[in-house]
Amino acid sequence: MYCKYYGLKEMPFNVTADPTFFFMSHQHKEALSHLLYGVNQRKGIIVITGEIGTGKTTLCRFFLDQLGKNVKTAFILNPNFSELQLLEAIVRDFGVQIKNKTRLGFIWELNRFLIEEAKAGNNVVLIIDEAQNLKPHQLEQVRLLSNLETEKDKLIQIILVGQPELNHKLSLYELRQLQQRIMVRYHIIPIEKKELAEYIRHRLKIAGSEDTVSFKDDAIELISVFSRGTPRLINIICDRSLLAGFVAETKVIDGSLVKKCIAELETSLQPTIL
Ligand SMILES: Nc1ncnc2c1ncn2[C@@H]1O[C@H](COP(=O)(O)OP(=O)(O)O)[C@@H](O)[C@H]1O
Ligand SMILES: [Mg+2]
Repeated sequence: MYCKYYGLKEMPFNVTADPTFFFMSHQHKEALSHLLYGVNQRKGIIVITGEIGTGKTTLCRFFLDQLGKNVKTAFILNPNFSELQLLEAIVRDFGVQIKNKTRLGFIWELNRFLIEEAKAGNNVVLIIDEAQNLKPHQLEQVRLLSNLETEKDKLIQIILVGQPELNHKLSLYELRQLQQRIMVRYHIIPIEKKELAEYIRHRLKIAGSEDTVSFKDDAIELISVFSRGTPRLINIICDRSLLAGFVAETKVIDGSLVKKCIAELETSLQPTIL
């Protein structure tokens, strides 16, 4: 709505997990290195956690875009499935044809696929996002998948991504075998204050800004306090502030403008997302 006014090609602060807007903050860089290390070294199971809105899904999408042709991937976004449906979703996402839709059938097909890919010198990566929603027996199923291996290498690298509750689930006694197999872990914390202004500039630039709009220091300060560095909240407040700037006919977003938007948001947003 305000894009034209600021000379932008698209909305800079959507809350979708669009990897083209990916900003390599210190945190996200570290998380990405962990992913690349775990996958390239065929470490088996990798766990990435972070609070809601810290950029987990965006990171996964960006990571998937980095992988070469010799890595086959499946990305399960919302695993609110039964165990059988989860297996089916995984097998399908790898593009494997399934004739026998039973648990054994899926595992057999997956095994065959993994061995073929290994022979071709390929690596296979499965990402399960929102993995805190998996039931313990599904997580156990994930462990069984990760057992598919040759003497030397894991045939499939599994990345479990989720909110901090995922760690609680993984520490359940009944999941101790899975717990022992997690070779790489990373917890994403919010963006540091010193990177906040850069994050905002980065997203504006990707959206097509040629410094036609700017956030003043006092605005950045308020955004930092409001969002506590959580990208999702940064996006929400920046979007509101740009709209307010458009209405007030100013391309310089200052503290007083942001303050008003924060007050509005605090009354309209549900306490759960703040
Ligand atoms: N490193 C980043 N660079 C750019 N935008 C980001 C980054 N991390 C998060 N975001 C943005 O914040 C919002 C929430 O990110 P998302 O990946 O959905 O978080 P999560 O999956 O952890 O809940 C999205 O709009 C996303 O584009
Ligand atoms: Mg997510």
